[in-house]
Amino acid sequence: MSTTRSDGGPGAGRHGDGARPPHPTETPHPPQVTEADLDAMSQEQLARLAANLDDVEVVHNANPWPIAGTRAEKRAERAVTMWFLIAALCGLAFLLAFLFWSHEYRAPGDPGYVMYALYTPVIGITLGVGILALGVAVIQYVKKFFPDEVSIQQRHDGPSDEVARRTVIAQLTQAGKDTGIGRRGMILGTAGLATGVFAIGLGIAAVAPLVRNPWKGGPDAALWHTGWRPVNGETVYMRYDTGDPTEIALVRPEDQEPGSVMTVFPFRESERGNESALLNGVRRADNPTMLIRLRPGTVFVPAPGHEGLNYGDYVAYSKVCTHLGCPASLFESQTNRILCPCHQSQFVASEHARPVFGPAARPLPQLPITVNDEGYFVATGDFDGPVGPAFWEMGKI
Ligand code: FES
Repeated sequence: MSTTRSDGGPGAGRHGDGARPPHPTETPHPPQVTEADLDAMSQEQLARLAANLDDVEVVHNANPWPIAGTRAEKRAERAVTMWFLIAALCGLAFLLAFLFWSHEYRAPGDPGYVMYALYTPVIGITLGVGILALGVAVIQYVKKFFPDEVSIQQRHDGPSDEVARRTVIAQLTQAGKDTGIGRRGMILGTAGLATGVFAIGLGIAAVAPLVRNPWKGGPDAALWHTGWRPVNGETVYMRYDTGDPTEIALVRPEDQEPGSVMTVFPFRESERGNESALLNGVRRADNPTMLIRLRPGTVFVPAPGHEGLNYGDYVAYSKVCTHLGCPASLFESQTNRILCPCHQSQFVASEHARPVFGPAARPLPQLPITVNDEGYFVATGDFDGPVGPAFWEMGKI
């Protein structure tokens, strides 16, 4: 068997054209190793040979726990185990929450709203803490159990040869052996548990959206309706938010300048004095609506089959962008463009908010409006399409 050592100097490595010839006392590089040599080598020798083949010289290698089974070593092992265990528990909690927590949309005030509102924080926190714990566990393991090693490697090009390929596995195995992972059953078990749970969770998370049916519930599915939906024939007024949810500020046509936009929310007389209902009116995610007064003389072009939703120069559109749900609330009155600042989608307010630029593919849903006998704006129905992103399977109106 030939033993080798890289001198770490500029002449080490594979000698190409122009390189200085090896000194008679130097070991040639790469070392000449026969198959019989390889068969005769122990795993440790193969690992060292692998390093040598890569022009790596191990200058210093110290086992952090030269005496096995000390109290300090066990303490370190318990710390790593604890982090893996936390990761596994969080992964399991994420999985259970993702599968069984109430995720169906609930409007504020509806039964089950609190659980629905907690869905995203719960899956976010369990996944985030789980990944954090997994990362801390791996870092702790490397810091506490990997040998304290200093190596010098020379740079060289070209593909690995047969000897290198055969020895690299031995090198990796030896690295595992050096850290004593084989005899740390507790760490191995919890690490396997944590990574297994996460692998299952991420697999299910990737597939589940393909299985869930957004149309469950038919025409009454929550995603079809907003707070503008008429209930029991009660008039749905437009109000704007003064900052005090209990203050009712209804909207009349003369409240708006030509070429301006106002964000409005639904209001019913039955909600007057009901603080929670009034608060929900301005909080519900699909309620915010842009009431736009086009400049005089602007010709409004309705979507085919959706005529009569505007009131003269006034049009009302959902403020929730049909791309990814940002508030599309920038209105440029000269061009009649509504701009979503997130990814720059643009919609033409005078043409039923059809998208003309950016990633949004669907118009902003339009709210049918009119002015009642008292001179206030009211909605005569819910939006003419589902609000917000998703619904990617729907064609353009
Ligand atoms: Fe509006 Fe992306 S969310 S353009």
